[in-house]
Amino acid sequence: MEYQFAKRMSNVKASAIREILKATSDPKMISFAGGNPSAEAFPVEEIEKISADILTNEPISVLQYGITEGDQELIQAATHFFNRHEQVMKADDQMIITSGSQQIMEFAAKILCNEGDVVICENPSFLGALNAFKSLGAVLRGIEYKNGQLDLEALKQALQMEPKPKFMYLIPNFQNPTGMTMSLEVRKEILKLAKDNGVLILEDNPYGDLRFEGEAIPSIKSLDEDGLVIYAASLSKIIAPGMRVACCIAPKAIIQKMTVAKQASDVHSNLWAQKVMARYLQNYDMDAHIERIRMIYKQKCHLMLDEMKKHFHPDVQYTIPTGGMFIWVTLPESVDMLTFVKKALEKNVAVVPGNAFLDDDTKECHSFRMNYSTPTNEKIKEGVKILGEITYEMLSISS
Ligand SMILES: Cc1ncc(COP(=O)(O)O)c(C=O)c1O
Repeated sequence: MEYQFAKRMSNVKASAIREILKATSDPKMISFAGGNPSAEAFPVEEIEKISADILTNEPISVLQYGITEGDQELIQAATHFFNRHEQVMKADDQMIITSGSQQIMEFAAKILCNEGDVVICENPSFLGALNAFKSLGAVLRGIEYKNGQLDLEALKQALQMEPKPKFMYLIPNFQNPTGMTMSLEVRKEILKLAKDNGVLILEDNPYGDLRFEGEAIPSIKSLDEDGLVIYAASLSKIIAPGMRVACCIAPKAIIQKMTVAKQASDVHSNLWAQKVMARYLQNYDMDAHIERIRMIYKQKCHLMLDEMKKHFHPDVQYTIPTGGMFIWVTLPESVDMLTFVKKALEKNVAVVPGNAFLDDDTKECHSFRMNYSTPTNEKIKEGVKILGEITYEMLSISS
């Protein structure tokens, strides 16, 4: 049988990261390709205790169908939690609980984009979101970085080009894949551009709480007084991604449309997971928990950077993150990045080729992404040394 698939899926490929992750199931492989929380970062005992308590004392509350917007107890606890340092939830806003923040990306495109509509994204950006937009018929218009910040001139031009974009998808904190953070000035300027051009912003902030250096910068959502920002907050990176619990905060009209989209998709998010998250947020010291995981990532990030400094050829450049999970490495133009990544895989070290994160993955790219949250300290040392040897091998050939 020759299957006739829908046209809108024709330029959506299986995620390059998921494909590489399949190869990394081999125990010999050192994987810097994932983006998973560290195994040490999970509050396992607490989750076990809360779960047992719910299933013993109020099982039907989590085994029955629930309402689409989400469990009321979680909505209250999450509102309090995400508003604790800044006002992300405005008077006209509402929250919907989703199955991971990945679902927010899908719903944003589903409710806002017709076939062929344009979404502006950072170039590079989070592959899962780009695939969600493309699978719903959206066309990506990528904006490059210049001197460590989004190129605002290029953004201005992209906003004025026809067709007019539907929204800008941005990850201002410890971006995936680059690990970079937008300055306050750039955030304010982007918000102004959104207002002047009447274009919405989808602000994705799964890593904001994982800052291990410097001062927190206000979210674009907290700066917005005009209902321009859809805010995606996730509990994946700070509690547990397997539970698939995230929250979208946006003006009521947008959340109401997302509610209809969710009814057509999965009715509501898993009630057991929502209830466990609600009780965890209410009854445990989240600040202490977050501080503990920040310290794990700080140590791992510094270890990886130190080892890179020791072993990488000095012509190789990389970002120095102040939070999050990723480092973006750029090889000199004389070195073919895909050959580098293949050589690394042959030596059992996996990284993600940078072109996977571009608006058009056939564009030339000399960068790749490395993750430091998942591998152990030993694997970080071992894997970076191997990558370092390949940088010297390939740079000495190319020079
Ligand atoms: C920038 C970004 N947004 C969203 C997600 C999706 O996270 P989740 O669906 O687990 O909330 C990820 C996951 O890696 C991510 O890196």
